[in-house]
Amino acid sequence: MGELDTLTAGALAQIRDAGTVPALEDIRVRWLGRKGTLTEQLKTLGSLPAPERPTAGARINAAKSAVQSAIEQRRAELESAAIEQQLSAGAIDVTLPGRGEAQGGLHPITAARLRIEQIFRRAGFEVAEGPEIEDDFYNFEALNMPANHPARAMHDTFYLKDGRLLRTQTSTVQIRAMQRAVQTGSLPLALIAPGRVYRRDSDVSHSPMFHQVEGLYVDENVSFANLKSTLHKFMEAFFEQDLSMRLRPSYFPFTEPSAEIDISCVLCRGAGCRVCKQTGWLEIAGCGMVHPAVFKACGIDTERYTGWAFGAGIERLAMLRHGVNDLRLFFDNDLRFLASFAGGRS
Ligand code: PHE
Repeated sequence: MGELDTLTAGALAQIRDAGTVPALEDIRVRWLGRKGTLTEQLKTLGSLPAPERPTAGARINAAKSAVQSAIEQRRAELESAAIEQQLSAGAIDVTLPGRGEAQGGLHPITAARLRIEQIFRRAGFEVAEGPEIEDDFYNFEALNMPANHPARAMHDTFYLKDGRLLRTQTSTVQIRAMQRAVQTGSLPLALIAPGRVYRRDSDVSHSPMFHQVEGLYVDENVSFANLKSTLHKFMEAFFEQDLSMRLRPSYFPFTEPSAEIDISCVLCRGAGCRVCKQTGWLEIAGCGMVHPAVFKACGIDTERYTGWAFGAGIERLAMLRHGVNDLRLFFDNDLRFLASFAGGRS
């Protein structure tokens, strides 16, 4: 029985030294488990003379419960130490100054688009949208570009497996809007259609996805002079400066006559600089009077109605307004670039 005291003292020492809950569990199994040292001791009782058994049994049981309660106590200590450690690792020093919050902002292309919409809405134009996945009819056929028309080659179109395509121009929305106006008897029509377009083209000044804004005005007696004055007023409102504007003859299958619009350079005010390649002029949009073939494709009476349309690149408008010289900056999403537009620069 002297041996029992030594054993118990050894168990208690191991328990005190246990550094983790799993280590403590090993100790418990070793001493109190089904084949544990103290459990084995109880099994030896049978070999003692009967009168000694009660005392010996009581001593072994006392040893067992001493070990048992030492284990429980150590387990509680280890567990609360673990909690303490977790708490202190996640401690918050409430006296530190706050980290602050950065204010987000609209992407410069979104801001430019909203600015364009606002200017045209004030002039009585509606804002229309159309799908980015289109079919041949809306992107080409109805715009007076039948199959094999040479102008199709300029569009570098992305085709889908099913023959549909990603629209290469917002002019598709002209057709949809005119068809709807005919169906609902809601001519005249004055709208702009901003949105994404896609072309297989990628370099410093071309991105496979970019944004255009289309303009369309259809009514009786709509003139080229009205097109010119509307666009001139728009450009002056957008760039917030007086501008000169000139029209150069051009060609689009869906307008006749067609023109390219130049404005005096918004950066050097026409004096000549790198951006306008020393010419003093910037090419800014394509336009023209709606071709009768387009009206016919939409079911509009060409004897009664005339109309104009224009198309301009939103990235180009935004680049010139903000003096941005690389188109790719709009798509890199470098926060240093984007943050310079936060806070409402449009
Ligand atoms: N859709 C033409 C383009 O992408 C631009 C345009 C629109 C020209 C409307 C004339 C009229 O180049």
